[in-house]
Amino acid sequence: MMHIRWKCPNCASPLTPMLTQKPYVLRCAHGHSFDVARQGYVNLLLPQKRGAALPGDDAGMVRARTAFLDGGYYSAFSDGVNACVLEALAQSDCANPTVTDAGCGEGYYTARLYTHLQTYASDSACVGFDLSRDAVAHAAKRGRAMGAQGLSFAVASLFDMPIEDGSSDGIINLFAPVADAEFARILKPDGFLLIAVPAEEHLWGMKQILYRTPYPNEVRRDTLAHFTLTHVQRITDTITVTDPEHIRALFAMTPYFWKTAREDAERLYACEQLCTTVSFDLLLYRKSR
Ligand SMILES: C[S@@+](CC[C@H](N)C(=O)[O-])C[C@H]1O[C@@H](n2cnc3c(N)ncnc32)[C@H](O)[C@@H]1O
Ligand SMILES: [Zn+2]
Repeated sequence: MMHIRWKCPNCASPLTPMLTQKPYVLRCAHGHSFDVARQGYVNLLLPQKRGAALPGDDAGMVRARTAFLDGGYYSAFSDGVNACVLEALAQSDCANPTVTDAGCGEGYYTARLYTHLQTYASDSACVGFDLSRDAVAHAAKRGRAMGAQGLSFAVASLFDMPIEDGSSDGIINLFAPVADAEFARILKPDGFLLIAVPAEEHLWGMKQILYRTPYPNEVRRDTLAHFTLTHVQRITDTITVTDPEHIRALFAMTPYFWKTAREDAERLYACEQLCTTVSFDLLLYRKSR
């Protein structure tokens, strides 16, 4: 909580962590105050905005995601994200970076990035935002168990992040909505944005089971008004998922879950193991001047 330049969601003035108070709170000069929950996160989504926003992933979706990600199937992808972030930071000569995870979900990638950043600078910090309270609570609990002092989480929309202008060195945005102008606002002038998108062959093995004629994915290349695309890196791996629960969890994380006929999904559920390509593109953008 200490490492982040928080901004009050009510009046936009700085929020200061009050360490002596129990429960621990973040407070602004106008007396708006926000409790830090037992798990170590803060809810900065105002009640009037909560209704308008999508609720985000529920507890069941968060559990499924965690079960799958903790199985390590996407560790090569996570390592690729970390390497790319480190390279981007080295290019901008950043001493003690703060990296934001916009749409952090249950915090698997945030936690691994934080650990990796410690090898670069022990004073680096990561902050994750997500609309889902269940996901953020889980992420914070994991961070607390790691004893990660510089890892913070808040419930907030990534379209309206409660941190000050120019307070981040970089952003990772993994399979979550893209908020072009808001991302540019929170970044320093030479800040970077790393977006991950599925590549053509992503989950090909799963699609071969689900569909008679699977099609390769159409690969997204967002043109962003406030950013310039500087580098694209493809990360491809083959994974074998042997636990039927993990196969279900992976399926539930995909858009196919919502649009596959029941009898087709049953074929996948009957599999004792799933061998599939996983393939992602990492799109590295720099904030335009
Ligand atoms: C597909 S999940 C990806 C989560 C995480 N990055 C990962 O890869 O494990 C998308 C996440 O975006 C969050 N989300 C959707 N709209 C959002 C918004 N406007 N602000 C913040 N989070 C949002 C959802 O709650 C969900 O956790
Ligand atoms: Zn305030």
